[in-house]
Amino acid sequence: MSEDLDKPLNSEIRVILFGAGAIGSEIARLLLRRRGVKIVGAVDAAPEKIGKDLGDIIGLERKLGVPVLSNLDDLNVEADIAIHATTSFLKDAYPQIAALIKRGLNVISTCEELSYPYIINEEIAKEIDESARRHSVTVLGTGINPGFVMDTLVITLTAVCQEIRCIHAERVIDAAKRRLPFQKKIGAGLRPEEFREKAAKGEILGHVGLRESIAMIASSLGWKLEEIREDPAEPIISNEKVKSEFISVEPGFVTGLSRKAYGIMSGEPKITLIFRAYLGAREEYDCVMIDGEPVVCGKISPCIHGDKGTAAVVVNSIPRVIGAPPGLKTMKDLQVPSAILGDFRSFLY
Ligand SMILES: NC(=O)c1ccc[n+]([C@@H]2O[C@H](COP(=O)([O-])OP(=O)(O)OC[C@H]3O[C@@H](n4cnc5c(N)ncnc54)[C@H](OP(=O)(O)O)[C@@H]3O)[C@@H](O)[C@H]2O)c1
Repeated sequence: MSEDLDKPLNSEIRVILFGAGAIGSEIARLLLRRRGVKIVGAVDAAPEKIGKDLGDIIGLERKLGVPVLSNLDDLNVEADIAIHATTSFLKDAYPQIAALIKRGLNVISTCEELSYPYIINEEIAKEIDESARRHSVTVLGTGINPGFVMDTLVITLTAVCQEIRCIHAERVIDAAKRRLPFQKKIGAGLRPEEFREKAAKGEILGHVGLRESIAMIASSLGWKLEEIREDPAEPIISNEKVKSEFISVEPGFVTGLSRKAYGIMSGEPKITLIFRAYLGAREEYDCVMIDGEPVVCGKISPCIHGDKGTAAVVVNSIPRVIGAPPGLKTMKDLQVPSAILGDFRSFLY
């Protein structure tokens, strides 16, 4: 349990926002609509944001009295938890998260590789865990995916199974409805050969987290996988003209991408995850199929909105993270997740 549980229930949960980009801003706007929780500080390295009031950065028409600082060391406020949203990669997130832990802050991060970091860098995962325990705080990596649709939701659905032969989950997104940076991230508008060159250089990933989701599912079930295999990003080529608010893609050009990953056991793919994001997807959905006893099969259509869903999972995890035992945790280690619509203080236990 966090030491902060000793504080009187009438003090709000104090939050520091570390990273005020698209997702950090969505999280901040949601926090402002919640009771019993308060943003007390903000850090972001982008020069155009530094020194401005957080209200201006997140698109409010009012000031919040929270200036965006370039450096955590300059932040002179007490807080209970930091929401970290700067990077997908554990090696980049690690020094930032280590500094937050040293300040005695619980941390929830949208860093995809932190959602199940043991398969990325065991040493860093161990250091985060040990440091968090020393400082009596809890650290969690989460979001919509990884963090929910292809791992926590799948894991929860397996609870009704007596036997499981294999698991398949798929997420399909119409990228035309997303921000321009997302459309660029999936290579929309590129020639197929340009896409393949960039993908080979690791410049187009499209999605990070399938491997982490597979590892989390397998660990929950007690499956010892021989291998987690991920195919290179595959371009989806348009056979008609498609467009979004920002770009137009001619037939024969790349409209988005597909990523596939497999958890292999006894030479067979026991867990298959497929992520597709492209302009002009006819149907957006999240789908889970568990071939087991009983069979569990479900489709959520349209798919859960990525940015809104990420902000919700992060914010709704706040009391659960503060209340969890110290150390590095993953979604499977915490209480069953839910929305929190009441006063956050009454969810501290
Ligand atoms: N798990 C999930 O489901 C999920 C969902 C959504 C997003 N994510 C991940 O969450 C991360 C944030 O997403 P986003 O869309 O908000 O990205 P973004 O718009 O690029 O925002 C990131 C912000 O963090 C700042 N930043 C980077 N390094 C920093 C540092 N060392 N100290 C302080 N600020 C720093 C950036 O400044 P500069 O622009 O100057 O670098 C930028 O303002 C991404 O890696 C994204 O992939 C995960």
